[in-house]
Amino acid sequence: MIRLHDVHKDYAFGERRVTACDVGDLRIEAGEQVALVGRSGTGKTTLLHILAGILRPDRGEVEVVGARIDRMSEAARDRHRGRHIGMVYQTFNLLQPFSALENVLLGALFGRGAGGEAKSRAETLLQRVGLGDRLHHRPSELSVGQVQRVAICRALVNDPELILMDEPLGNQDRTTGVQVLDLLLQMARDGNKTVVMVTHDPESAKRMQRTVELETLRRPA
Ligand SMILES: Nc1ncnc2c1ncn2[C@@H]1O[C@H](COP(=O)(O)OP(=O)(O)O)[C@@H](O)[C@H]1O
Ligand SMILES: [Mg+2]
Repeated sequence: MIRLHDVHKDYAFGERRVTACDVGDLRIEAGEQVALVGRSGTGKTTLLHILAGILRPDRGEVEVVGARIDRMSEAARDRHRGRHIGMVYQTFNLLQPFSALENVLLGALFGRGAGGEAKSRAETLLQRVGLGDRLHHRPSELSVGQVQRVAICRALVNDPELILMDEPLGNQDRTTGVQVLDLLLQMARDGNKTVVMVTHDPESAKRMQRTVELETLRRPA
């Protein structure tokens, strides 16, 4: 499902360079549920964005859902992400003027299409996470936990093979957060989906099958 080799990404500030990602080898098989852990600033978000095809590394091989995305143009990576990958961003990135249902449908627009069938799929997903009575609320009218659940529905609406999540339980009460995570992991298992989740919460990491420490992936200097 995922294979990385010698992947590197730097940011330059004048003379100074900051290494944002440095991964020797990483393999994740189809259907695995993996926690990606590491201290703040170790490059977890950068790596997730490389897997999603939002960022292209300076060098290295990136194979995701059967395609070498490091060789693709930005437009091709965007299409690949729309078809195969569901992303839950660290800051959720819902669009404020739109309702919960519309936000989920916007996800479908960039994937399988937002026709009539997508609407019933979006409604079913929102009902499954307990938001059946919040379909027409805007993000500002929802709690953080509810916004997170909308973001998860948007990530799932295209029935992606791969789900990427960036500290999805970052700032909400643990009980709700862990319940939502368990629901997502169950849905992922039912659909044999692969899940990669960045987290600093040991309780969430324990729910995954495997934990990868980002710092151990660095190539020896
Ligand atoms: N757009 C950017 N421009 C410059 N530096 C960045 C940018 N994004 C990340 N970095 C730097 O790269 C490193 C890794 O960042 P990040 O992937 O966000 O880490 P994490 O998610 O593990 O906290 C940090 O040192 C950060 O300052
Ligand atoms: Mg981060």
